[in-house]
Amino acid sequence: MAAAGRRRIRLLAVAGARPNFMKIAPLLRELAGRPRFETLLVHTGQHYDAAMSSNFFRDLGIPEPDVNLGVGSGSQAEQTAEVLRKIEGVMLQHRPDAVVVVGDVNSTLAASLAAAKLCIPVAHVEAGLRSFDRTMPEEVNRLVTDVLARWLFTSEPSGGENLAREGAPADHVHFVGNIMIDTLRANLAQARTLDVLGRLRLEAGGYAVLTLHRPSNVDDPERLAALFGVLEELHGLLPVVFPVHPRTQASIARLLGGRAPRLLVTEPLGYLEFLHLLADAKLVLTDSGGVQEETTVLGVPCLTLRVNTERPVTVTQGTNQIVGQDPARIREAALAILAGSDRQGRIPDLWDGTTARRIVDVLERDLEGVS
Ligand code: UD1
Ligand code: UDP
Repeated sequence: MAAAGRRRIRLLAVAGARPNFMKIAPLLRELAGRPRFETLLVHTGQHYDAAMSSNFFRDLGIPEPDVNLGVGSGSQAEQTAEVLRKIEGVMLQHRPDAVVVVGDVNSTLAASLAAAKLCIPVAHVEAGLRSFDRTMPEEVNRLVTDVLARWLFTSEPSGGENLAREGAPADHVHFVGNIMIDTLRANLAQARTLDVLGRLRLEAGGYAVLTLHRPSNVDDPERLAALFGVLEELHGLLPVVFPVHPRTQASIARLLGGRAPRLLVTEPLGYLEFLHLLADAKLVLTDSGGVQEETTVLGVPCLTLRVNTERPVTVTQGTNQIVGQDPARIREAALAILAGSDRQGRIPDLWDGTTARRIVDVLERDLEGVS
């Protein structure tokens, strides 16, 4: 209970793109149950299609954003600058005691920078992940956000190790576990009640799931065509379900003359349907960050079609293999899984569904003195 005469701790939480919504949902729920806090949700509008945004608010019970900046798409600089410019006014108007950002998208970086310049402390959820590949826009976002943040909430051991090596003060770093897994655990039972397999005419254990949206895969026509080639071969062996990200949809239209791959192509799916699909898949092929983690918890084999990962625990402890972008290697790894050579893996420490509680405990303790 807030003591009489003391004002509440005011947080501004920021989300903008699909993977942010699964991360912010459990935090907002936890904060709503703590009388010491009042929280304002800002949606930057980086993602805006219903299938990339509002459907997740509905599926995950996220309250309507208090503010939607409506920034939309643009180049790296345009999008980042638009969020930076628009969110500053919101911060000045509401004067939060802290700003909470999640993940590694452009909205994460821009909100952190705006807050830091206004001397508002930043809490970064999913801090310390590093691919060591600065050609990825996300890697730049992670590095800058972590330098600016006052609270660095890490999801796996590599996060703390990377931050220590970079000189982050040890008392700013908190190993709290994986916030996305709070959402997975809270929703898996309900997800399993949806008849997405029936709708797509699939059988449990008899199909693969594919997602692709990294610029390194989908913005290069030769690479994208080569990937589709091997994935179409795989589709000859078992159905490959491919919910197509809008970036990839745009690349297919612009770079491949509109020729959709001969796979089981769908719109981007809602969280619950997609989670059910992942849970019952024989195999997942992806370049997503979050999907590498979800498959580890679900114990489903995952082939990551990238040359690196910022989430190494999914490889060292989970079910993930980094197979790169070479079709021959992808074919070999997929066939090995179909032949029954899956690794069991284990669930990493603190991926237990209570990460939001640990984060809010730290914030409540450290912000106790605001007045
Ligand atoms: C962004 C993130 C990436 C994250 C991904 C999750 C950055 C740098 N990238 O990539 O880290 O993994 O989201 O999905 O922040 N588009 C639509 N409708 C939408 C959203 C996007 O049509 O609702 C199309 C537009 O053509 C846009 C393109 O997708 O130009 C890319 O969107 P953008 O937000 O710039 O990057 P993502 O590739 O989605
Ligand atoms: N996801 C979804 N529907 C889809 C594809 C992905 O709900 O059609 C979910 C997925 O389960 C995970 C999140 O979106 O929770 C991952 O987002 P994305 O791959 O876009 O971003 P990344 O994690 O790579 O930043």
